[in-house]
Amino acid sequence: MIEAIRKRRSIRSFLKKEVEEEKLREVLKAAMFSPNSWGTKPWEFVVVRSAETRKALAKATGHSSFVEKAPVVIAVCYNIEKGRRFKEDSSIAAEHIHLEAVNQGLASCFVQVADAGDPPGSAEPYVKELLNIPEGIRVMCMMPLGYAARELKEHKDSEYDPKKVHNERY
Ligand SMILES: Cc1cc2nc3c(=O)[nH]c(=O)nc-3n(C[C@H](O)[C@H](O)[C@H](O)COP(=O)(O)O)c2cc1C
Repeated sequence: MIEAIRKRRSIRSFLKKEVEEEKLREVLKAAMFSPNSWGTKPWEFVVVRSAETRKALAKATGHSSFVEKAPVVIAVCYNIEKGRRFKEDSSIAAEHIHLEAVNQGLASCFVQVADAGDPPGSAEPYVKELLNIPEGIRVMCMMPLGYAARELKEHKDSEYDPKKVHNERY
């Protein structure tokens, strides 16, 4: 597992190569295997392949321009009627997407939608409108998915910082 975690980097440039349906299904399966509060599984995923829609999604925030270049974008959403920890649940699902992407030889990036945009908070209604997301379903983030266009730079052991670890008391 630590090998996949080491390899997981935020990738913002992608090859012009389609993502196989089987790989996409495994990635979505991993998301649906995530821990979730009270077993409520509040997540919903909108899978976007349309170039036109990806181009529009790329304009959601000042930090999302590259999503246009990914062959697939998964909007990670949550149902506010399911439990109370839907933000945590959907964020964990996004991380499962990120890690299984690595396992499938793919790459991704967590692109913030909730509370993002200029003005702050404008990204989510913009994405909801574009993707026809109904009331009661919120958007946490977008996960662009594809084959990395550059070599993955793995995390190194030197990033382990013992000062961040507090034994028994802070
Ligand atoms: C909650 C969250 C929001 C993020 N939002 C964005 C974003 O909007 N755009 C982006 O390019 N990267 C975004 N990132 C990716 C971070 O920039 C990245 O994880 C961080 O720089 C560490 O690099 P690494 O993922 O390669 O280890 C986000 C990551 C997290 C966890």
